[in-house]
Amino acid sequence: MKDQIDAIQTEALARIGAVADARSLEEARVAILGKQGSLPQLSAGMREVPKEQKAEVGQLLNGARQAITAALEEKKDALQAAADARALEGIDPTLPARALHHGSLHPLTLIRHQAISILRRMGFALAEGPEIETEFHCFDALNTPADHPARNEKDTFYFDSGKLLRTHTSTVQIRTMETGKPPVRIIAPGSAYRRDEIDATHLSVFNQLEGLYVDADVSLGDLKGTLEYFLHELFGADTEVRFRPHFFPFTEPSFEIDVKLHAKGQQPKWIEVAGCGMVDPAVFEAVNDSRGDLAYDPARVTGFAFGMGLDRLAMIRWGIKDIRLLIENDTRFLRQFA
Ligand code: DAH
Repeated sequence: MKDQIDAIQTEALARIGAVADARSLEEARVAILGKQGSLPQLSAGMREVPKEQKAEVGQLLNGARQAITAALEEKKDALQAAADARALEGIDPTLPARALHHGSLHPLTLIRHQAISILRRMGFALAEGPEIETEFHCFDALNTPADHPARNEKDTFYFDSGKLLRTHTSTVQIRTMETGKPPVRIIAPGSAYRRDEIDATHLSVFNQLEGLYVDADVSLGDLKGTLEYFLHELFGADTEVRFRPHFFPFTEPSFEIDVKLHAKGQQPKWIEVAGCGMVDPAVFEAVNDSRGDLAYDPARVTGFAFGMGLDRLAMIRWGIKDIRLLIENDTRFLRQFA
């Protein structure tokens, strides 16, 4: 029996040593250690071993099983290591990895975040309103007469229902005042829609940021200070800002705000970035009518409002010459903001 154990172990180790692939290794394991394998077959002969030798033979059997199992494990590891080495042949794993392109925020998102964060620091809260609007919220309540060119079917997208796609975010001024009492200090970023011919400076869907501040004593000085501070934060403290008298139906007096742009290799020039003004009392009256109270009594409250084009701010901020780049999603353009 002892000799047989020896012989099986020697033969098994030799067979395992000669194996060259995982499949032959498994075959060898089954042939040696499997139920019908040579070692278990031999173990069955324990019954005939004289009692006084049983312990010794048992130990030999165990020793053989352990040696064979260890050899199988070792061979398995060696085969795996060889396979790994083959897979890496000709590859230098110490070379730097190929760069992954991470996504990045769109310039419009960036400028919106920056504008919002500056204005929130100044106490403005975010507000919103629907993009499908009534003529009342888009025009009438904003003191825009029935024959105003902006109301024209050529300029505005109307639905058969008589509703429309808002042409500006000023609608949120009305929505906010309808639902809340003064003081009101809100900003409303969002899309606006116009039937414009698309070119380098016009899109039919564009982005605005509206602001409204109504309280007991809001002055033109507050308006100037707020917007100057905002533009200096956004474009840099030495940015020149000017307020140019203008007309909007919903503010009186009204202004357009320009910043002086110093583009490389060009004469500095004034560029319009926003409209603003003191809320026209007619707007407060329309709001009171809609609310059915006198919460916005023009004798007791005043306010200022402003609306700026976010696309335009982005274009100025980064010297983008064509507004269409903002919607084309060309990664060669977008990657520059990563
Ligand atoms: N709604 C105007 C536009 O789209 C911009 C504007 C001008 C908004 C003056 C205002 C404002 O709030 O006071 O052209």
